[in-house]
Amino acid sequence: MERTLGRVLVIVPTYNERENLPLITGRVRAALPDVDLLVADDNSPDGTGKIADEQAEHDPHIHVLHRPGKQGLGAAYIAGFQWGLERGYDVLVEMDADGSHQPEELPKLLDAVARGADLAIGSRWVPGGKVVNWPARRELLSRGANTYTRIMLGMRVRDATAGFRAYRAATLEKIGVADVQSQGYCFQVDLTLRTVRHGLRIAEVPITFMERTVGASKMSRDVILEAYWRITLWGITGLPSRFRRKR
Ligand code: GDD
Ligand code: MN
Repeated sequence: MERTLGRVLVIVPTYNERENLPLITGRVRAALPDVDLLVADDNSPDGTGKIADEQAEHDPHIHVLHRPGKQGLGAAYIAGFQWGLERGYDVLVEMDADGSHQPEELPKLLDAVARGADLAIGSRWVPGGKVVNWPARRELLSRGANTYTRIMLGMRVRDATAGFRAYRAATLEKIGVADVQSQGYCFQVDLTLRTVRHGLRIAEVPITFMERTVGASKMSRDVILEAYWRITLWGITGLPSRFRRKR
């Protein structure tokens, strides 16, 4: 299947994921032996970057992008996408390092791209999608952010903050990924909105999201605040074109 899609790069951003990283890279390599991996590490104090380097030394499918410090999930992905686009990958995948996204579900996302989607989103909030072991507070935050996003931006996507996705390289080029300013998790909403506004095809594929068992989430108050102010701003600046579309 990967052959018809071309070359696939799975980008895994890491910040202090030393226990999780080897588990996730092992599962990706077992589930999809032909894909390449890029670990985008923000100079993790716990030495995740060094573990990634050791893995890369022994496996030509594993690559590492070292970043100078913690600059946010969005910034890490933008650098990772640029790395992959420069090297001619055809499909670029986003996946968390902490086991929340199941590498064994990746073929479903790649299938959706093979069937014509410009972006396939692994979705928790479509029928068949599930969340396992998430505290009620996190579920509320995610559902609240998605409801706010749908109202403010007029998008039909159910899980616009999802972090398990497959993009065609052409999609990232068309939506101008290099100009994205979002630093934190609202980067996910940013790219979803750009994909919608460019009239590209999005497929939402149900997935099971499992809360991590090791390490801690990097979600913070600043990440949440950035999401709310940016989504509000995109909503206001997008209003004129929403009215034009309705007429
Ligand atoms: N390089 C880098 N830099 N990686 C980061 C940073 C950063 O500043 N912040 C987080 N990460 C990495 C983590 O190490 C992990 O691999 C992945 O990004 C997700 O981070 P978590 O902190 O585990 O995210 P979460 O579980 O709270 O949030 C999940 O749900 C969000 C909202 O629904 C993720 O799937 C997010 O992508 C999603 O937006
Ligand atoms: Mn997580």
